[in-house]
Amino acid sequence: MTEAALLETRNLRKEFGGLEAVKDVSFAVHEGQIKALIGPNGAGKTTIFNLLTGVLSAQAGAAEFAGVSLLGLAPHRIAALGVGRTFQTTLLFDEMTVLENAMVGHHLRGRVGLLGSALRGSGVISEQRGTREAAMEVLAWVGLAEAATRSAGELPIGQRKLVEVARALAAQPRLLLMDEPAAGLNMRETEQMGELIRQIRDAGVTVLLVEHDMSLVMGISEQILVLDRGERLAEGPPEAIQADERVLAAYLGEEAEGC
Ligand SMILES: Nc1ncnc2c1ncn2[C@@H]1O[C@H](COP(=O)(O)OP(=O)(O)OP(=O)(O)O)[C@@H](O)[C@H]1O
Ligand SMILES: [Mg+2]
Repeated sequence: MTEAALLETRNLRKEFGGLEAVKDVSFAVHEGQIKALIGPNGAGKTTIFNLLTGVLSAQAGAAEFAGVSLLGLAPHRIAALGVGRTFQTTLLFDEMTVLENAMVGHHLRGRVGLLGSALRGSGVISEQRGTREAAMEVLAWVGLAEAATRSAGELPIGQRKLVEVARALAAQPRLLLMDEPAAGLNMRETEQMGELIRQIRDAGVTVLLVEHDMSLVMGISEQILVLDRGERLAEGPPEAIQADERVLAAYLGEEAEGC
């Protein structure tokens, strides 16, 4: 591909003590793609998300989003640039309502907006109303409009996963990093999540997806990058990855170790 990538990493590296969790990993994500990042447990997938979102600092390498270097930036700066994220273990405010959880996401972008609206002479009240409307919009999109006033803590896992997606979308990301959005979901919910991810992409949000559910990954991804023990093992379209013996061996090795 000749056009510039939306996200590009070069030789990204992270060690924890003696453990090389991410070893010189380079990859690109192009605008409009659904790209998957897969690999056995402990491959380094979540660590890569943590490096890209400023939660962890890299020991070496580079990561650029739309031409801006991400490494060294604080998480809220990275979010404000347009990089959104959902978490492997849902991180919701259980005491707050579904709507309030989604509004938290919008505030990430809203801070920039707040300054803008103050400069234009409108006040905090209209900003609040805008936040509520934007949050309701994303809740309707993910199918949670009717659950808006319920406490997030009351919801079953399938709906909690959707609140997580709504919160990320409320920040209006240009790139969304999704860490195991189908973990804990049944087959029907997984299919619906796949459909939602497609809609998110069709709405103009580029998606980098970490997921263990292979039917979901193979069904919606255009490109798949496979990691194993921190290293890039293979990359290609779903058909090529499914037929790749190195990939098969990495997953079989995992089963043999009883993971
Ligand atoms: N904060 C940390 N401190 C020390 N070691 C860590 C830390 N985070 C991750 N690791 C280790 O780094 C390796 C990669 O972990 P990571 O969570 O990135 O894997 P993963 O590919 O997301 O796996 P999973 O599919 O199980 O979620 C693992 O060996 C893990 O134990
Ligand atoms: Mg993980």
